[in-house]
Amino acid sequence: MTTKAVAVLVVVAMAAAMAAEASKELSVDYYKKSCPGVENVVKYHVAKALKANRGDGAALVRLIFHDCFVRGCDASVLLDPTPENPETEKTAPINIGLAAFELIDEIKAAVEERCPGTVSCADIIIYAARDASSLLSNGHVHFDVLAGRLDGRVSRASDAQRDLPDSTFTVSELIRNFRRKNFTIEELVILSGAHAVGVGHCSSLRARLTAPPEQILPAYRSLLAGKCAVAPDPVVPNNVRDEDPAAVAATIPSFLPKLRKFEFLDNTYYHNNLARIVTFNSDWQLLTEKEARSKVHEYADNGTLWDEDFSASLVKLSQLPLPPKAKGEIRHHCRRVNAY
Ligand code: HEM
Repeated sequence: MTTKAVAVLVVVAMAAAMAAEASKELSVDYYKKSCPGVENVVKYHVAKALKANRGDGAALVRLIFHDCFVRGCDASVLLDPTPENPETEKTAPINIGLAAFELIDEIKAAVEERCPGTVSCADIIIYAARDASSLLSNGHVHFDVLAGRLDGRVSRASDAQRDLPDSTFTVSELIRNFRRKNFTIEELVILSGAHAVGVGHCSSLRARLTAPPEQILPAYRSLLAGKCAVAPDPVVPNNVRDEDPAAVAATIPSFLPKLRKFEFLDNTYYHNNLARIVTFNSDWQLLTEKEARSKVHEYADNGTLWDEDFSASLVKLSQLPLPPKAKGEIRHHCRRVNAY
């Protein structure tokens, strides 16, 4: 065999070893020996970021959903477009406003320094989302992360458009979308409670600005319309309790006592929803189906139950697998696949 042929064989063998088939068991102590303390590193960086800006926390909670619902939890959402693949998931319109990519880069760099080539970007997303939801809820949302995921090598905007729910969806479309990933109506309602935090673009709630009073409190509609009129496509808080007091005083003064100092991940989403003060059509739609509506009432009445069920649903979300036979790897950098 020529030297060149040997070299080619070595490269092919290395690629096969590195891009292992992605289906394998996850476990809580996966990095116990290979990267002890990795969870503390992630938590340190998430806590530091949230101290400066709680909005990063909401971004991480959304990131776990947008990663795991598309090709499983494989960090495909983090891949930057390239000349060979100009339309990665993050370029999809459905991923409007997705953020915290720099924070993930910062965490990955710190983890790589400690244990090079060991911890996947996919696991980092789950650790970071867990820590963010725990910090935003003062520890009420908490769970152990099962780790050992591999990073995917495929990322397509068309997959994101197909698999992620749109804010204009009807309740039947939402139910169908969640069912395709093996999630129940109850889990749809539980996970939608994440809209207790964060922001949305006015373009994502356009339909709400003309919705009738049965669907949205007219005073809240006026508040949103006023805010959306001031710039081309500004963002508004998902939770009316995080609105600025002047806007609330001018439109829904009776709501002023309910405003809060910090974004907080709790069951207020369900109270707001029953009062018809939620941002997205998809939120309101949950009141239009019997089982979903009864779950909205249940979680409005029992915040502790929601904390527990939200934690369990995030665990389930975090276990969505890569497609069968998909290849995985531990990326060196979360924004690009490894070069062989
Ligand atoms: C049920 C179907 C869902 C729909 C239709 C939906 C839709 C949306 C939309 C349109 C936005 C605003 C995007 C923008 O305009 O910038 C948003 C934000 C957000 N979503 Fe969802 N979402 C859904 C479920 C979820 C789930 C399951 C989670 C997490 C478990 C989640 C977490 C969030 C968070 C935290 C934000 C705020 C992000 C930030 O401030 O950076 N959403 N969602």
